[in-house]
Amino acid sequence: MRILIIGGTGTIGKAIAAALAPQHEVLVAARSGTANTVDIEMPESIRTLMARIGRVDAIVSAAGQAAFRPLPDLSDEDFALSLRSKMMGQVNVIRFGLAAVVDGGSITLTSGTLAQDPIIGGAAISLVNAGLEGFGRAAALEAPRRVRVNAVSPGWVTETLLANKMDPTAGTPAATVAHFYVQAIEGKMTGQTIVVRRAIAG
Ligand SMILES: NC(=O)c1ccc[n+]([C@@H]2O[C@H](COP(=O)([O-])OP(=O)(O)OC[C@H]3O[C@@H](n4cnc5c(N)ncnc54)[C@H](OP(=O)(O)O)[C@@H]3O)[C@@H](O)[C@H]2O)c1
Repeated sequence: MRILIIGGTGTIGKAIAAALAPQHEVLVAARSGTANTVDIEMPESIRTLMARIGRVDAIVSAAGQAAFRPLPDLSDEDFALSLRSKMMGQVNVIRFGLAAVVDGGSITLTSGTLAQDPIIGGAAISLVNAGLEGFGRAAALEAPRRVRVNAVSPGWVTETLLANKMDPTAGTPAATVAHFYVQAIEGKMTGQTIVVRRAIAG
């Protein structure tokens, strides 16, 4: 398959690319560090990327920012960034990506378990994650030509916890998280959110 990974230079995206590379042709897109530049905050940038890459069997989005801050401290700009980047960015990947995907192909978004399990400081992230999961289910119903739409909802990724000097035992390795994206791409599921809970040792 020919697979576009938006955010393919990031912690999760790199692991998805590594998991897919042996079997598939992988195109990596991000704002920097790749020939396929795109900024999902800008609709025209997504349209330009889709026009440039042509047909693909699958699109994965593992990109988008959202603000982590306690509710009383969340500013208008924190909400605007979260909605513009992680939420509308990925909504627009579906809107402008559908036509690029072959019949029966797939688009897989990234939400996050704060949609299911809120924590202090995560309100804006819970908002966009839950919105993305709802949109993904609805988009799956209306997607043309049997194109499948799913979301992967990761919990903390081990590498991210380590990078932030946090206890890594609460995390799931990026390579394990990537496996669920591969399932969404290679399987038959549609309209699903795959929730990745903490890896169980042993
Ligand atoms: N890591 C975790 O523990 C975790 C847990 C749950 C959910 N998530 C979600 O998973 C997604 C990926 O997380 P991550 O940890 O892999 O992040 P990351 O390491 O910061 O990587 C983000 C990737 O997305 C790209 N990107 C960021 N903003 C973009 C934009 N506006 N347009 C295009 N590309 C953009 C980055 O490249 P450029 O900066 O060059 O554009 C990079 O390739 C995020 O939405 C995050 O909220 C992560």
